[in-house]
Amino acid sequence: MRSKVCVIVVVVALAVTLSLAQENQGIAHKDTRLVSRGDVFCFACVTGLDAIILKRRVFKLKDGKVQKHLYVLCDTFGALVYDPAVCRGMVDIHLNMILFLIDNKKDVKGSDACGLLLQNFKCFNSEVSRWSVDVPKGKSPPKKLGDSSREPLKVLHVTDIHYDPHYEAGSLATCRRPMCCNRDSGKVKNVADAAGFWTDYRECDVPARLITETFKHIRKNNKLDYIYFTGDIISHRIWETSVEGNKRDIKFIMSEFKKQFGDIPVYPILGNHEPHPLNLFAPDGLKNTEFSTQWLFDYSAEMWSDWLPENTKETIRRGGFYTVLVRPGFRIVALNSNVAYTLNAWLLYDDVDMYGQLEWFAKTLEKAEEAGESVHVLSHIPSGDEYTYSPWGREFTRIVLRFSNTITGMFNGHTHFDELNIYHDGKDATNVAFNGGSLTPFSDVNPNYKIFDIDSINFDILDYHTWIFNVTEANRKQTPPEWYKLYSFKKEYGVKDMSGKEVFDLIKRMVNSSTLRQTYFENKVRVGDAALAKGCDEDCHKNNICNMLTAEYSNRTLCNKLTKNIY
Ligand SMILES: *[C@@H]1O[C@H](CO)[C@@H](O)[C@H](O)[C@H]1NC(C)=O
Ligand SMILES: *[C@@H]1O[C@H](CO)[C@@H](O)[C@H](O)[C@H]1NC(C)=O
Ligand SMILES: *[C@@H]1O[C@H](CO)[C@@H](O)[C@H](O)[C@H]1NC(C)=O
Ligand SMILES: [Zn+2]
Ligand SMILES: [Zn+2]
Repeated sequence: MRSKVCVIVVVVALAVTLSLAQENQGIAHKDTRLVSRGDVFCFACVTGLDAIILKRRVFKLKDGKVQKHLYVLCDTFGALVYDPAVCRGMVDIHLNMILFLIDNKKDVKGSDACGLLLQNFKCFNSEVSRWSVDVPKGKSPPKKLGDSSREPLKVLHVTDIHYDPHYEAGSLATCRRPMCCNRDSGKVKNVADAAGFWTDYRECDVPARLITETFKHIRKNNKLDYIYFTGDIISHRIWETSVEGNKRDIKFIMSEFKKQFGDIPVYPILGNHEPHPLNLFAPDGLKNTEFSTQWLFDYSAEMWSDWLPENTKETIRRGGFYTVLVRPGFRIVALNSNVAYTLNAWLLYDDVDMYGQLEWFAKTLEKAEEAGESVHVLSHIPSGDEYTYSPWGREFTRIVLRFSNTITGMFNGHTHFDELNIYHDGKDATNVAFNGGSLTPFSDVNPNYKIFDIDSINFDILDYHTWIFNVTEANRKQTPPEWYKLYSFKKEYGVKDMSGKEVFDLIKRMVNSSTLRQTYFENKVRVGDAALAKGCDEDCHKNNICNMLTAEYSNRTLCNKLTKNIY
């Protein structure tokens, strides 16, 4: 019996450690090697979780006992990767959720949990994905391309700020935690290990001074019409979040937007780091329990009300999403795609279109189509991300393809990479989603923001410009960062326009051009010194291309077809 508990705990610790290690693990090729060991992980995960479920249900293992076992494991196995305090903290904030799922969701099995948690380790269990949303029949009327000779609207896209109120310059930047650069990160023995003044390529987020400085710089150098903020305010100190702490940090960022940009409208969405514990969005069935995410929705409705009309509050309070008519003919649809993050363990409780969001998305687009509007879609996590629940990505993609001409722009965050994804209907690419990159350098990348040129009549994307600063250089001088334009998309990649077709042609050229692939990689990491030093090998380039071609994680059709001859 004792040894069984051991196995169980090992596996849970493994799962916790994995999920800790997952987000933003730097350059993508690290993941490739792990995936090939997917079978082993799957087996260990399923066996272990089934055992702990049995132990709790049949032998009524007490709450404190479960926690203790997990702690022991943290101290042994969790410590291989991080300081045990991290693992213990994660156990503490997740324990109630785990126990609730085992006790109340009688049909939940190890294979469901592992299929979800380890979707990208090929653990995916297709049995659980049989749901779909109603997508109205028909086809959206053809659209015209934007006209670059017209004076464009200017839209700022900023994302993944990851504000760390405890950031301390000179503290240890490489510690045994997911996030360092803090008073409590440990002793600095070597001056090279000290966190930079502005921020740092290593396990570090962003101090307030960099946020203020960045917003001031942007305001001074641009005449902006709108601001898109695609989520992730909270730092990566994920083992010690709290409702109060998150509220405080959300308020700080929202008031910085207000203070620095005045009357320029900001359209914010939620990131997966905003809830407490992170990633967890509880379904409707848990609205009146301790697990409810209602506090975050209510707080967002209040915080965003400076920029959004009163009638957006109903859906924000329902699930953190909204739509707003920005000007005649131009609509924004702001989604909460975090519900479909595979680390949102509540998908085990209810995985079917949480909050009815996708159904609402389709209906909203149908009305926009009838009204002849153009729509920009804001979403934190890309639909084809390896951690986006595949059925959600599949239904999202169906909707996008149905309304491909009504949607004239798509904007993502979350990956911290300046990258893009196309949507392809079997004949050609119809839409492109552009990722905003990140303000945090976590990890290895230079902070950035983007300025989009938008056609002022049909709201098509005309071009975008990525601005960065060199973290090494800024920290060396300690004077305000010298922001500069890294590139403009059309010129950099030699495309005529930003349409799906044109971008898809670019990707096809990239398959055959190592120079283009390298350019894409360097832009993706914004020539961060740390990322460039690590470089991008063939697996990494192949990954970059596959990511561009993936709208739904489990559909690798395009990726397999195009990358066959990459070597
Ligand atoms: C997979 O993606 C391709 C290309 O976008 C598409 O044509 C095909 O219908 C998709 N397959 C499924 C099963 O959704
Ligand atoms: C950033 O600055 C450092 C220090 O001045 C320099 O060595 C490095 O080449 C710069 N990186 C880029 C991409 O310009
Ligand atoms: C790449 O080049 C090869 C040989 O020149 C050609 O057969 C192939 O179709 C090209 N691939 C793409 C995606 O353009
Ligand atoms: Zn992020
Ligand atoms: Zn995120």
